[in-house]
Amino acid sequence: MSRSVFITATSYPRVILAATMVESIRMLARQYFQLVDPPQLAIPPNNILIQPTVQEALYEHMFNESLTPLPPAPYRARVLKLLLSRIEEAITDPEEDEIHDTLMETWASLLTTPKPPALQQAQQLSKIKYTAPSPGSERTVITSESRGVILSGGTTGNRTWEAALHLGSFLSTPPGAELVRGKRIIELGAGTGFLSLFCARHLDVKNVVCTDREMFLVENMRECVRLNNLEVEGGGNLMVPTIWDWGTPLDLDKTELSDDSSGEGEMEFDIALGADLIYDADIIPLLLSTVRDLFENYAVKEFVIAATLRNERTFQTFLDGCETNSFNVETLTFESTPSEEQTGFFHSTSIPIHTYRITQRI
Ligand SMILES: C[S@@+](CC[C@H](N)C(=O)[O-])C[C@H]1O[C@@H](n2cnc3c(N)ncnc32)[C@H](O)[C@@H]1O
Repeated sequence: MSRSVFITATSYPRVILAATMVESIRMLARQYFQLVDPPQLAIPPNNILIQPTVQEALYEHMFNESLTPLPPAPYRARVLKLLLSRIEEAITDPEEDEIHDTLMETWASLLTTPKPPALQQAQQLSKIKYTAPSPGSERTVITSESRGVILSGGTTGNRTWEAALHLGSFLSTPPGAELVRGKRIIELGAGTGFLSLFCARHLDVKNVVCTDREMFLVENMRECVRLNNLEVEGGGNLMVPTIWDWGTPLDLDKTELSDDSSGEGEMEFDIALGADLIYDADIIPLLLSTVRDLFENYAVKEFVIAATLRNERTFQTFLDGCETNSFNVETLTFESTPSEEQTGFFHSTSIPIHTYRITQRI
C-alpha cells in the first residue's frame, strides 16, 4: 500500500517541512565538520532556525561535546555566533520565541575557552571529517590538517586540496568506484592522505600505499589510519603510508600490506592516483619519469590524476611531457558540481578542475 494513503492533505506539507529540516541540518553539519568557512555555510532559513526542535537538533548534531571529532573551539565559536545572530533576527514574539538553553550554555562555555594566538591557531593540526557527496549514506573520512598555512615545512601537503576533493567526488560515483574496486593502489604526493583513506575505508580496494616525500606528512597519515579504524590486528594493513620522494626507489616491505598477491618480486600496483601535483613546471619532468617508472617497473596500468587548472602554460608543459613519453591522456568526463549544490566533499569550483586517465601507448 502506498505511504501517501496515510498522509492527509493538511499533514502532507508538514511532513515535507520536517524532511527538509532534517536534510538542511544534516547538510549544515556535514559542512561544519569539514570546517567550511562560516560565510559559505548553508544555514537554514530563519523561520526554520527559530523552531525549538531545530535548535535542539543543531546542538545534538553539531555542538554536543560527545561528538567526535569536534571542530576546534574558535571555529565552533564563529559558527555558533552566526547561528545565534540568525536566530535572534528571527525572534518576532519575545514571549514565545527563544534561543535554546543548550545553545546558550555552549556559547557561554566557548566564550570562556582560552584562545591560542592567531599564528598558533593557523598552524595547529585539526581533525577534519569529510562526508562523501552521496545523499543517503554517511561515508566519512577523518584527516588531520593545518588549514591556515599553505606552505609549511616546505610542502603544500598540510591540507586537502580542491583537486583531491574533486577526485574523491568522482570516486564516490559508481563509475569512479569501479575504477578502484578490488585494485592495488598507489597514491603519489598524498599530502593528508584523504584520497587513500577514502579508497581504503569505503571503496573496496585490495590495498593502498599512500606516499609523500615529507616524513611528518607520512606520520600524520599513519595516525589517520588509526583514527579511521583501518588498522588490522596482527597482519598487514589495508592502507600503508610510506615515504617516497620521486626519483628514488620505493622502499616498502611488502609484508606490511594486507592481501598482497604480487609474489616474491617487486611491489606491484594496478592503478596510481594523484591530485594537485601539476602546480610547478619545474617538478613535471620528475613527476612524468616517476609515472614511467610506475608503468615499467611496478605493473601500474593507469594513472588517474585530478588537476586544478591554475596556469595554462604549466598544464601544457605536462601535456607536452606526456606526448614526449608516449603516454595517452584521456579526459574523464566528470564535471564538478557547483559549490552551492554540493552535498559532500565540499570544495570551491572557481578554478576548473579536470581529471585525466593516463596510460602507456603500446
Ligand atoms: C599540492 S599538494 C597535494 C596534496 C594532495 N594530493 C591533495 O591534493 O590534497 C602536493 C603534494 O605533493 C608532494 N610532493 C611534491 N613533490 C614531491 C616529490 N618530488 N616526491 C614526492 N612527493 C612530492 C608534496 O609534499 C605535497 O604533499
